[in-house]
Amino acid sequence: MLRRLILTAALALPLCATAQSGEEVPFITTPDNVTLAMLQLAGVGPQDHVIDLGSGDGRIVITAARRFGARGLGVEIVPDLVARSRSAAAKAGVADRTEFREQDLFKTDLGAATVITMYLLPEVNLQLRPALLQLKPGTRIVSHDWDMGDWAPDETLTVDAPDKTIGLEKKSRLHRWMVPARAEGLWCGTAGTQLRISQRYQGVQALWQRGNRQWALQGRLDGAALRLLGADATLQARVDGERLHIAAPAADAVTLARASGERCPAG
Ligand SMILES: C[S@@+](CC[C@H](N)C(=O)[O-])C[C@H]1O[C@@H](n2cnc3c(N)ncnc32)[C@H](O)[C@@H]1O
Repeated sequence: MLRRLILTAALALPLCATAQSGEEVPFITTPDNVTLAMLQLAGVGPQDHVIDLGSGDGRIVITAARRFGARGLGVEIVPDLVARSRSAAAKAGVADRTEFREQDLFKTDLGAATVITMYLLPEVNLQLRPALLQLKPGTRIVSHDWDMGDWAPDETLTVDAPDKTIGLEKKSRLHRWMVPARAEGLWCGTAGTQLRISQRYQGVQALWQRGNRQWALQGRLDGAALRLLGADATLQARVDGERLHIAAPAADAVTLARASGERCPAG
């Protein structure tokens, strides 16, 4: 309830001119061209399950289903907006692929999402960030206008938004992140092969060891895909839960296991 009040108050600020009196929670719609740009930026397709957090009149989820063949869920705390969304989805012929729930976005299970969209507020994005970082590696997140603090987006673009109802500058900034796998820690192979990783969001620094030789590497995670570069070594790998598969170079192809302690077992 406290979160809802905070969000309500904060949303009301830029909306003073447009909020209708008596509206319990004011909302701002993402203009249609910006909705399309958000879904394109996320690379939404028929395999995707899109969850829009604070779905307003349902336009993002409905467009994801109608234009991109995705499935989608909108969570929205204002009952009237949920009803409007359901009826708009039926009119658009996508009721079978969309669902709208009257629900607090902070209490929503996001586990099924392959794409999360949001048009909220900077502080709300930050509150959501820990939960978003726990999502399946590779889940794409697109936020309209607001970023997520020191978790730098993988891509940001600015689009013209002549129909935007707030702000003097009729432009929208769109940010995209891909949830990185959890690679932090020590990964062990046999015969003195190990990879020690220190991770900050999608950024990675690593020490690669084979027998008596060591290489300092750095790189990034794109979802589960890990690329590491050093002065004279390059590794391409994939994090799969408790296993890390090094695929290239072929001579280094090996599967490592996440260490349970501070050191790899001898041998
Ligand atoms: C800025 S609007 C965005 C609407 C829609 N996503 C769009 O982009 O057109 C934010 C929406 O979040 C809803 N909202 C605010 N707090 C919420 C909460 N705690 N849980 C679910 N929805 C919430 C508001 O009612 C509002 O409709």
